Amino acid sequence: MYNYTPWTVAGYEERRRAKIAAERAEPRMATPVISFLGPSGLEGFKRGLPREEQPVTVPLEFLDAMEVREKVFVDEQGVPIENEFDREDPRSCHWVAYASVRKIIQHEEKDKDGNVIVPRKSETRCTPIGTIRLVPFPHWDPHPTKGAKYWGGLTEEEIAGQKVEKPVKTDIRYFVDRKTSFHDGQEPYVKLGRLAVIPEYRGGRVASLLVKTALKWMCENPNRFDPSVKAKGLERLCAIDGKPPLWMGLVCVHAQEKVVEVWKRWGFEIDEEMGIWHEEGIPHVGMFQRLDFGEKPILLKQDRIPQEISPPSSTIF
Ligand SMILES: CC(C)(COP(=O)(O)OP(=O)(O)OC[C@H]1O[C@@H](n2cnc3c(N)ncnc32)[C@H](O)[C@@H]1OP(=O)(O)O)[C@@H](O)C(=O)NCCC(=O)NCCS
Repeated sequence: MYNYTPWTVAGYEERRRAKIAAERAEPRMATPVISFLGPSGLEGFKRGLPREEQPVTVPLEFLDAMEVREKVFVDEQGVPIENEFDREDPRSCHWVAYASVRKIIQHEEKDKDGNVIVPRKSETRCTPIGTIRLVPFPHWDPHPTKGAKYWGGLTEEEIAGQKVEKPVKTDIRYFVDRKTSFHDGQEPYVKLGRLAVIPEYRGGRVASLLVKTALKWMCENPNRFDPSVKAKGLERLCAIDGKPPLWMGLVCVHAQEKVVEVWKRWGFEIDEEMGIWHEEGIPHVGMFQRLDFGEKPILLKQDRIPQEISPPSSTIF
């Protein structure tokens, strides 16, 4: 039934008090703003150190992305802090969602006659609340082994010093991988990952906004990671049937098993052949989708951005 509150001074005062109480309990949030950071090298980034101790050369967006990732993956999910930053970060694209949060920093005070003696003050801060990253091809590692347990990218066998068979890599890391349900083992694919939204902002479609922004960016930049055949030569690129490895819209996700349903909402399907494996103690499955960006545009020489960014030399893997 329609709930009518009469417009009386008493009613107004009641609503005003309720609004102030709600604002005290929970800061307000406007629509998040998304910021993009392309592959940046992250020279000098020191894993595990607080942001105040990072060199000024490290882009702020990356420090913000790490702030969110540490809150979610390290504090909430128990991933060791030294494994949260990895060798993919310097060569990846990162998106960060920021919320404009208005907080009351001083409450209004009145004297006994109802006169305001201390006015209410508020401030608006831009806070990082979510992030996602896109790892371009070629990939350092083959598809995970079914049933394996990885810590910091290494299997328990590798950590124990046992020799493990891996696909042979060339100097530029194009290699033939094992076939899965969606991947023929050779086609270049990009990988979305490190999707995180801090707990207070969940359920507000922040993750949806991040994933959709990243997928749209890929459709608008389908040549972004294609290698320059002219610079590298077909042979060094391990061309398949004389064709250079070009990205044709294949996107992979290593999804935490408990959020598979969420990734399905954005068009990803489980790759049954990839099975289940553990990363940092958390069960993961492989998921793929193919983006349709129409005809592959032919880039002019000056449009091409072919560099691969190597991990920073200060980083030990
Ligand atoms: C998973 C996570 C990123 C979702 O963030 P979020 O901002 O709350 O997600 P959204 O609000 O955009 O939700 C997107 C959709 O998924 C649904 N959804 C969100 N979390 C869900 C969950 N845990 N289980 C099932 N459905 C879920 C939402 O209802 C929404 O569906 P709708 O569009 O039909 O309404 C967030 O919970 C998180 O950071 N979790 C911890 C880190 C993590 O697991 N990351 C994924 C690594 S693969």
